[in-house]
Amino acid sequence: MNIDVDQVDEVLSTARSVRKNLDFDRPVDRQDLLDCIDVAVQAPVGLGGENWRFLVVEDPKPKQEIAELYREILRRIFKERGMEMKPTHRALSDRLHEIPAMIFVCVDGVPADEEPASQIGFYGSILPAAWSLMLALRARNLGTTWTSLLSARQEEVARILGMPEQTLLTVMFPVAHLKGATLRRAKRVPASEVTFWNRWGEQSI
Ligand SMILES: Cc1cc2nc3c(=O)[nH]c(=O)nc-3n(C[C@H](O)[C@H](O)[C@H](O)COP(=O)(O)O)c2cc1C
Repeated sequence: MNIDVDQVDEVLSTARSVRKNLDFDRPVDRQDLLDCIDVAVQAPVGLGGENWRFLVVEDPKPKQEIAELYREILRRIFKERGMEMKPTHRALSDRLHEIPAMIFVCVDGVPADEEPASQIGFYGSILPAAWSLMLALRARNLGTTWTSLLSARQEEVARILGMPEQTLLTVMFPVAHLKGATLRRAKRVPASEVTFWNRWGEQSI
């Protein structure tokens, strides 16, 4: 199979956070979500094995409870930082309970300890799957945002969703069809400025 590198790069480079231009009224097909999760589980995984679990929430009651919790955390974050909530954040949080689907990327287990190597191995075996999921959604023109703020309230999320103990939520993706959004490359510092060659600090090629 010939891979169209330009198309792949386009997906990789335009998986933007979409909070405003989302269609809150159009359902998202379950099979499309399962297809995206099938892509996600192709991500690299460490020795711990395939400990990922995905919970797709469509029912109004848990969505309402999750949305309330999300708004509470978001308000607190902006208050603590002494900042006004940005309109883009408000656009999603105000209507989060109406989102057609929330996908919770969870992991069965907890890091062995606080050592960087344990943490890197543990989260390194789940976050690539989350990113693959976001890319698969992007490739299907489904809008989403990488949200991790709910992870600050693990116990409440677990209670709302019936998650077992020793299971961690990492990222929650609110998913909807795009409504008039054009996703573009972000302004980022170019590779040449953040890449060293052969020795730390050496930037010339
Ligand atoms: C680790 C991480 C956590 C994030 N958590 C949230 C979140 O809880 N809510 C949210 O609206 N966006 C969240 N974002 C999305 C960022 O705010 C987003 O990347 C930023 O708005 C820049 O947009 P862009 O990715 O389209 O360039 C998170 C992103 C990362 C990488």
